Amino acid sequence: MRFSTFLTAVASLAVGINAYWLEDVQHQGVAPFAGDGYKVFRNVKDYGAKGDGSTDDTAAIAAAMNDGGNRCLQGCASTTTTPAVVYFPSGTYIISKSIMPPYFTQLIGDPAQRPVLKASSNFQGFGLIDGNPYFTENLNWVSTNVFYRQMRNFVIDTTAIAPGTAATGIHWPTSQATSLINIEFNMPTDASTVHVGLFCESGSGGFMSDLTFNGGAAGASLGNQQYTMRNLVFNNCKTGIIQLWNWGWTYINLQFNNCGTGIDISAPGADNTLAVGSAIILDSSFKDTQVAVKTGYTTSTKPDTAGSVILENVKLDNVPTAVEGVDSGSLLAGGSMTIAAWGQGHRYGSSADRQFSGDIAANTRPASLTGDNGYYSRSKPQYEDLAASDFVSARSSGAKGDGTTDDTAALQSAINSAANGKVLFLDYGLYKVTGTLNIPAGAKIIGEGYPIIMASGDFFGDINNPKPLLQVGANSGDAGQVELTDFVVGNKGPAPGAKLIEWNLASDAAKPSGMWEVHVRVGGFRGSDMLIEQCLKKAGSSTIDPNCIGANMMMHVTPKASGLYMENTWLWSADHDIEDKTNTQITIFSGRGLYIESTVGTFWLVGTASEHNHLYNYQFANTKNIFVSMFQTETPYYQPLPNAIEPFPVTASLNDPDFAASCSGVAGNCAESWGLRIIDSSDFFIYGAGHYSFFNNYDTTCSTVEAGENCQSRIVSLENVSNINIYGLNTIGSVSMLEKDGSSVASWQDNVNVYPANIMLYRSG
Ligand SMILES: *[C@@H]1O[C@H](CO)[C@@H](O)[C@H](O)[C@H]1NC(C)=O
Repeated sequence: MRFSTFLTAVASLAVGINAYWLEDVQHQGVAPFAGDGYKVFRNVKDYGAKGDGSTDDTAAIAAAMNDGGNRCLQGCASTTTTPAVVYFPSGTYIISKSIMPPYFTQLIGDPAQRPVLKASSNFQGFGLIDGNPYFTENLNWVSTNVFYRQMRNFVIDTTAIAPGTAATGIHWPTSQATSLINIEFNMPTDASTVHVGLFCESGSGGFMSDLTFNGGAAGASLGNQQYTMRNLVFNNCKTGIIQLWNWGWTYINLQFNNCGTGIDISAPGADNTLAVGSAIILDSSFKDTQVAVKTGYTTSTKPDTAGSVILENVKLDNVPTAVEGVDSGSLLAGGSMTIAAWGQGHRYGSSADRQFSGDIAANTRPASLTGDNGYYSRSKPQYEDLAASDFVSARSSGAKGDGTTDDTAALQSAINSAANGKVLFLDYGLYKVTGTLNIPAGAKIIGEGYPIIMASGDFFGDINNPKPLLQVGANSGDAGQVELTDFVVGNKGPAPGAKLIEWNLASDAAKPSGMWEVHVRVGGFRGSDMLIEQCLKKAGSSTIDPNCIGANMMMHVTPKASGLYMENTWLWSADHDIEDKTNTQITIFSGRGLYIESTVGTFWLVGTASEHNHLYNYQFANTKNIFVSMFQTETPYYQPLPNAIEPFPVTASLNDPDFAASCSGVAGNCAESWGLRIIDSSDFFIYGAGHYSFFNNYDTTCSTVEAGENCQSRIVSLENVSNINIYGLNTIGSVSMLEKDGSSVASWQDNVNVYPANIMLYRSG
């Protein structure tokens, strides 16, 4: 224990509170490419922060963030080489200027006694936490390339700033594999307040949960491609959420108390259009609020489907107007009642009448997918009730995590020793693994700053015989529960036979297993040996470089597995080199994204994404009872050179799509990755989907309206299914938005939205 930690521990004991285990465990994270002596873990108190409610701690916190010299801030495009976990013990930290966390930084507070970041009255900056600063007129990082960061367990307080002075709690234009969790924003409640708790103007998210906004002109002002946000509370905000723009968004379990307007999705775009694509509001409540939802959608607004909305299971208590149209007045009267389901937009499948506005049938939810207050959910475990002695360190168990040592045996032994009632702490590092790691029932693993476990070597070399890297449950149907949090799996060198996660475990629907912020990253990072040097993009060539095949399948859920809750998981085959100064594009091949073939079913995919996989990003077969909130995919940028017919052989036992057969007679670029394919399955409840195809062989012309949105012919396929319910299907660059049993259900031209095309309601029957 370092001296300052000792003092903190003594102080905590004096008031009868133990510090968070993360503060007390040994800090042994190693960043092998960051230079000798580089520290991954930084306690702000070790850098002089007092947290005493009076000292200005700005410089000390910045020193903790920037320690190490080569951290990625102004002018740096992105990196995975210099990670940092910046820890804040409980206390009140006075801040007079924005804290700017460099790329690949986690900010973690003590969850039991959340630290308060309090702005001084003379605060200067755009956000107490400025997650992507404007050093120039542009954001420092391209917001769609801001990955791998999180912030959790804080109170953000702007109440010392005059209510009429502009103030922002957190500025957070970021993308996949990021999160804000368990944060309270305290702002003035004066009528004159112009404060905003959370401001996000762009990016490709994402996930957030467990945020409370008190006061302010707006709790959250949000523009981004897509998001799942859940468990947000808004008290005494003039407007809870101002939606600046989006392509699609799913809100789950929001609570509004005493606000003027709950959610405003009526924002105008250029030339008399709307800026907001669509929103889904699920399992939420509005109390003592004038207008629950303000919308701009009418039958004549443009684009045709912009501003589409669905509310399902929304409770009103003293809410005069449930839905108000900016130009059309009250669309749905309020009162005190529960709205089963109501919406506006385009629909297919259930009715010949394409346009709808009004009550709709609510989904009939399977009991196995529901919890106390709507669909089941569980926020990520932080183990705040445990002590440091409850954790087993991977590095103390002999694993090196240096990117070159074979850590297979040491990691397996660490997993086994922790599985006996402890939690495995995966210290930051790059762990090279040359065989299968078995994760038995009962295992709990939590990473420090997104460490990565990499499949490497001949064991993963056979494209015809894939082998698992992480195998959860040794045999399909093994019973029990597993919790995996905050780490990444990927590859080091070619791994055409790597199945990065194989999920065999059968968990009780009432006690599911969970994966929270567990990501897949194939290529594109230092240590993967698949960067510009090896895999620079080859525009105009269909050559498949065997040295750039990084995975066979990202995640496979086998037939007897069941009961898995996945939250904020991003399965990414790299499209660019994260370490490169200009994020130059690279060509990496990964065969398959997430494949679920569980006959038992019962899976929750909450804010997940799967990108640039060759055959499909999501495929489901012979399964049922699936809950999805806003999943997002991208087709590989190189397709159709090569197209999806090579190099991964069609494997019948995996129900692979056979493009050579199914594309016969289909015009355009047919043999391209499916965003979503569901076969021989039933009972899906999809709340938000974004399936994007932006490129033809690295050229984006095909995804424009002028070019005909023809990057690929088809992108979503339902084959022999029943009771598939989709709210908010968004597609980009695909001529057909949705295929059923080989025929197109809808084309993009009939459903134009702000950038994607949108079908707000689809039921397969
Ligand atoms: C259709 O799917 C069901 C499962 O939902 C399966 O039992 C049946 O065999 C499938 N039919 C065909 C023709 O594949």
